[in-house]
Amino acid sequence: MFKISPSILACDFANLEAEVSAMQRAGVEMVHVDVMDGHFVPNISIGLPVVASLRKKTALPLDVHLMISDPLTYAPQFCDMGADIVTFHVESESDPQAVIDAIRAKGKKCGMTIKPRTPAEALFPYLSQLDMVLVMTVEPGFGGQKFMADMCPKIEAVRRECGRLGVPMDIEVDGGIDERTVPAVVRAGANVFVAGSALFGKPDYAAAVAGLRAAAEG
Ligand code: DX5
Ligand code: ZN
Repeated sequence: MFKISPSILACDFANLEAEVSAMQRAGVEMVHVDVMDGHFVPNISIGLPVVASLRKKTALPLDVHLMISDPLTYAPQFCDMGADIVTFHVESESDPQAVIDAIRAKGKKCGMTIKPRTPAEALFPYLSQLDMVLVMTVEPGFGGQKFMADMCPKIEAVRRECGRLGVPMDIEVDGGIDERTVPAVVRAGANVFVAGSALFGKPDYAAAVAGLRAAAEG
């Protein structure tokens, strides 16, 4: 099943509740929250209080993408603030197994993600413990970048390995996803689509969400 997760990085943060409500009415399955610490990536976005506030205003699952150096310290705190699924980078400074254990201990879903220069195989030892894999299709840090089509073989590799292990997996893609680029990631095996500028950048969110879904369904 396809899921659309609009990235609020591209929304009007002064009207966060209205923006997320409009996306909910447009039929999205989750909300993607990009957390950046100015250290793991060269940008600073939002953090714990925003997730806590959002939690009170929407029933949509909060899909929190941690682009931070120390997920072991902060992932449990994002769980406490109401995140439903917490995704962290295998390239972070924390021990991946310890982060998985910390998220699981909070009873939340766990995702792991790789930057464009990291091979798919970096995720393989952990697949059986994950609910979601996020294959970045841009260098993390900024919205509005160009989709990297050469990430598709990594999506295929993750899908193939999950099949071999018999592990059901959501495979999410993030960066430059729009109506033109989504068919390629679907063919490669992705089923969860993050989109920032392609959704919040449009005047009619319902039309934008429907257009992205139609393009994914082919
Ligand atoms: C990039 C973030 C993305 C970003 C996507 O570091 O992880 O979620 O908001 O933005 P678009 O869809 O505009 O490429
Ligand atoms: Zn993201």
